[in-house]
Parts: sequence; structure tokens; C-alpha cells
Amino acid sequence: MSRIDTKPQTPSKRVFIKTYGCQMNVYDSDRMADALAPHGYAPTQQIADADLVLLNTCHIREKASEKVFSELGRLKELQGEKRAMGGDLMIGVAGCVAQAEGEEIARRAPVVDLVFGPQAYHRLPVMLEQAAARRHLHPSLKRAVVDTDFPEEDKFAHLPAARREVTLARGLTAFLTVQEGCDKFCSFCVVPYTRGAEVSRPVAQVLDEARRLVDAGVREITLLGQNVNAYHGLDAAGRDVGLGELAHLLAEISGLERLRYTTSHPRDMDDALIAAHRDLPLLMPYLHLPVQSGSDRILKAMNRKHTRAQYLALIERIRTARPDMALSGDFIVGFPGETDADFEDTLAIIREVGYASAYSFKYSTRPGTPGASLDGQVDEAVKTERLHRLQDLVAGQMQAFNASMVGRTLPVLIERPGREPGQLGGRSPYLQAVHFDGPAELIGAIHPVEIVGISTNSLEGRLAGSVAA
Ligand code: SAH
Ligand code: SF4
Ligand code: F3S
Repeated sequence: MSRIDTKPQTPSKRVFIKTYGCQMNVYDSDRMADALAPHGYAPTQQIADADLVLLNTCHIREKASEKVFSELGRLKELQGEKRAMGGDLMIGVAGCVAQAEGEEIARRAPVVDLVFGPQAYHRLPVMLEQAAARRHLHPSLKRAVVDTDFPEEDKFAHLPAARREVTLARGLTAFLTVQEGCDKFCSFCVVPYTRGAEVSRPVAQVLDEARRLVDAGVREITLLGQNVNAYHGLDAAGRDVGLGELAHLLAEISGLERLRYTTSHPRDMDDALIAAHRDLPLLMPYLHLPVQSGSDRILKAMNRKHTRAQYLALIERIRTARPDMALSGDFIVGFPGETDADFEDTLAIIREVGYASAYSFKYSTRPGTPGASLDGQVDEAVKTERLHRLQDLVAGQMQAFNASMVGRTLPVLIERPGREPGQLGGRSPYLQAVHFDGPAELIGAIHPVEIVGISTNSLEGRLAGSVAA
């Protein structure tokens, strides 16, 4: 494989990036592609065409983490096939498994050329050069390049921005990471270890990136952070700016129509952010606010740092500010020590809140977390049964929420052609997928759509003349 030039050049190589895990990884994968573009790498969707494959991994549950090793097995075969044809393939592991396991991956899977954590993405071109140089070594001496440091420098300040046409091709909605890391240390969770301490990007950097996105045609931005509502960025005067104030600053960008953010921790929903939901029409009425469990005993064991009553009081305040707020949540069943009564408390809080959508998981023991050494690990069969009951309940709530839209006219951000010819697809303010017939010229517009029916995961509509409040 040829060495990588540091000067911009026309694409001569192809990179395939496979993304696992959360939206922050989706954002990071794009940023890795942006970092590689000036070094002659164009993205490809066909793994067989790739000169470089990057796995952007997730460590959150055991299953997610183990997927990486089975994928590496397949990549080894692909590499063998390519070499037999006179070609080659470089393989990199990025993301949270890389951060958590580092050298261990290199040991377990010698096929890997580089292993690097989320804080090292700006160094990717240099690491690739190093990895390419090591390829000429005898196999017994060859070792992967491993970079899992948490560097001093601000990676975002060193990552190049996407070119305008690249941003445009990625769609009308975009993610923008404003905060990384987590200081909460929930006892089940690896994120504080894989992503490090909470860090917020400076306000000017966020506003610049948002303006660039909007200039390229983006209409909706979702601000991302492992604890996005713990955002505390500094402005030019060195003043601390919270997420509510940041939303006000973003609202001034002309052409930005919609703003969302995820994921939030209940403890960080402050008054300014709640007030922003009342005052800013561009802040969409959909909030992902995980509670994990409805039992105070389990919440305490999880180190969530709030009670069931505090969560419910918070929901009440949010709904006072924005009565139509749709809520979504995450739930874990089978945390160590969870009894039938604790689980019933979780079902009860779900009934009380009424979620528009929810994600639920069986507790997965993660090495190095306090939860892993707790007594009272719950039987797998019990976890499965609880998960099914919980999922039935939230599926019913989601369906009821979607059904409540029928007959209403909603402003829909029209994003793309639909599955059927002549169809368009977009999103309601409540993040529901909406399908309807209409002309392709409407893509990019926010247009009123009357909701006429629901299907499993989306709403069916027809174009309407005006938006009913
Ligand atoms: N920062 C976010 C969550 C990020 S992880 C928050 O605090 O809400 C996304 C979700 O994965 C969590 O909300 C939790 O429900 C789930 N999760 C995390 N660790 C888990 C584990 N060990 N087992 C099962 N689910 C887990
Ligand atoms: Fe994990 Fe808890 Fe931090 Fe969320 S708040 S990332 S669940 S430790
Ligand atoms: Fe997974 Fe890391 Fe996100 S562990 S959920 S990819 S922060």
C-alpha cells in the first residue's frame, strides 16, 4: 500500500466505515471520513471496494462489544481474498471498544492495523501513515498502532470540516456533538470510562459548525452529548453558557428551522433549558429523558442520583412549559437485585408518564463497572420475561401516541423520496416518520401534512394547505 500524502489530493483510495452504537458514533464516523478526505480517501458503501475498513464500535452492552470480533473474523477473510488478487486491506478499530480494550484487541485480532479511541480521531491520518509503514515489517514484528490516550489538545479544533457538497449529500438533518464524556458514573455504565470526563465545546466552535451546516442546506440540527444537557461551554468572554442559552444563540441562525438534543440526564434539566422549550419555537417538542427504572431502591443502586418522585416532578415542570412535549426514555430490566416489585414500579412509572417511544434493554454486566460486582444478578429468563412485558407496554403507548395524531395537521420537514413512487418522507415535530404523496420539489420544505392513518412505525398523511395549531 502506498504512503499517505498529507497534501489534499483527488481520491485514490476508498474507506468503508461501519458504525455501531449511539448517534455520537454516527457523528464521529462522518468526522473520520472528513479527516481522511484530504488524504485521498473517498467513502464507499461497498466493503468489497474498500482499501481501508474502520469499525466504529460500541461497548455499552456485551452483545454490542462482541460483534466487533465476529466482524474482524469476516474482515480477515476479505483481506485474504484481496491479497490473493494482488490487492490489500487496512483494518482499524475505533470507538468505545477500542478505548476500553486497546492493546487487547491488537492481541486478540492480529489482523487489525490500528486501534484508536474517540479522542484520537484527529490523529487518524498520522496513525494510518504509521500503520502503513509497519506493514513492511516481518509478520512476527508487526504490531497494530494503538492510540487510546485522552490528549490535551482539543480534537475538534483539529478535525477538518466537511466540504459543502458532502454536508449536503448527508441530508437535511445533521448531528452536531457539543459535549462529550460523562461524570455521572451510573453503576451499570461504561461510558464514563470509554469517553472520559464531561467536556463541552466552546460556544463559538458550536455556532460556527452550525452555521456551516445551515449554509450547506441543513434545516434541522440535533445537538449531541452523552450528557448533552450538562453542556457548559465557554463564550468569547469566558462566561459559562448552558444548553438553554446555547439554544437561544442557535435560534438566531437564519435558515435553521428545527433544533433537537440528545441524550439528557434528569439531573441536568435546568430552569433555563425548560424555559427554552416554552420560548423557542424551533426547539422541537420531543425529549429523550431516560429514567432507567421506576424503583427508588434500584435508582439508588444504579447511582442515578434522583428519585422516582423527582423525575415525575420534572416531567410535570417540562409539560407545564411545553404541554405537547413527547417523551422518550431508556429502561434497563434485571439490574442486580431487581425484584418483581421493583419491576412493577418501572411499569407503573411508564404508565404514569406515557412515553411516545422508548428503548429498553436487559441489564448486561460490564467489566470494570460497580454493577458487575453486585450481588443478586437476575436470571436471564426473568430478564427476558420482564423485557417483553415492558416492551408490550411501551409499544401500546407508542401506538396510542401515533393514533392521537390522526386527523391533525402537522408541519413536516420533508426529507426524502418515500419508498413508493411519488411518495415523500419526512418527520413530524415529535420525530415520527411521516409518508405521503407529493412532488419531489417539496424536499427541503417544512409543509403541513394532514395525518390520515398510522402504520407500524410511521404516520400516513396527505399534503394540506395550512397548519392547524
Ligand atoms: N447518557 C445516556 C445513556 C447512554 S447509554 C443517559 O444517561 O441516559 C444508552 C442506554 O443504554 C442507557 O440509557 C441505558 O438504558 C442503556 N445501558 C447502558 N449501560 C447498560 C448496561 N450495562 N446494560 C444494559 N443497558 C445499558
Ligand atoms: Fe452512562 Fe449514566 Fe453517564 Fe448516561 S449518565 S452515559 S447512563 S453513566
Ligand atoms: Fe456505545 Fe460508546 Fe455510544 S459505548 S452507546 S458508542 S458512547
